[in-house]
Amino acid sequence: MSKKFRIIANWKMNKTIPEALAFFEQLPKLSNPIYIAPAFTALFACAQKKRSDVILGAQNIYSEISGAYTGEVSANMVKDAGARFVILGHSERRQILGENNSFINKKIKQALLQDLEIILCVGETLSERNAQQTVEVLKKQLTESLFEISSNQLSKIMIAYEPIWAIGTGNAATAQMIQSIHFNLRTYISQQWSQEAAEKISILYGGSINADNILDLIEEPDIDGALIGGAALEINSFTKIIQHAGKLTP
Ligand code: PGA
Repeated sequence: MSKKFRIIANWKMNKTIPEALAFFEQLPKLSNPIYIAPAFTALFACAQKKRSDVILGAQNIYSEISGAYTGEVSANMVKDAGARFVILGHSERRQILGENNSFINKKIKQALLQDLEIILCVGETLSERNAQQTVEVLKKQLTESLFEISSNQLSKIMIAYEPIWAIGTGNAATAQMIQSIHFNLRTYISQQWSQEAAEKISILYGGSINADNILDLIEEPDIDGALIGGAALEINSFTKIIQHAGKLTP
């Protein structure tokens, strides 16, 4: 496989510590590292496995570094527990917990201060898609979430295009649809930041990825990886995905 196709597993609110560790026991040795974001509570235990082929991350952080924010967890805390990246702006947080672009922007700045890699999720609803507003919606999410982020800082950020109608529905976008959106996003990044940043940035897709449909994505020039929810929870389906993505030691 010529291109560096990234695999990111988002476990969401699943897996206790024993369940997470059992998954790690069964995960075959990988030829290229993959990313896994367990729940906060299992992060440290997973980090103790010290697998050089797995980059661990968090599914969220708060926008401040410490203080009276009951129930929140900061960028340096997740880093301390073993995270090297953080998923920000996931649609479940936007929709269920009311996060907006300016709040996500503050979190991105905190993550950058702690030198965490960032996976910034953007995506449109079904009604926005039907109203042909997809590209406008995505551009607004990028512009506002990445406010005051320099071209240089973009090297620590990956974009995950996750259409909300495709997440957890079994109804993934087609490879052609995704390729065309990613091309638009890359063009927008080259216009707003720089050509170099646009060429280097990884643009991932997420939404009902499985071991079959991932094969079509790998072929597309502007799809640099996949953010996987449901199919990353079960070891057999996940192993097939990473095998298809060329990450298993032959
Ligand atoms: P899914 O979730 O693979 O279960 O659709 C993807 C995501 O929410 O990141």
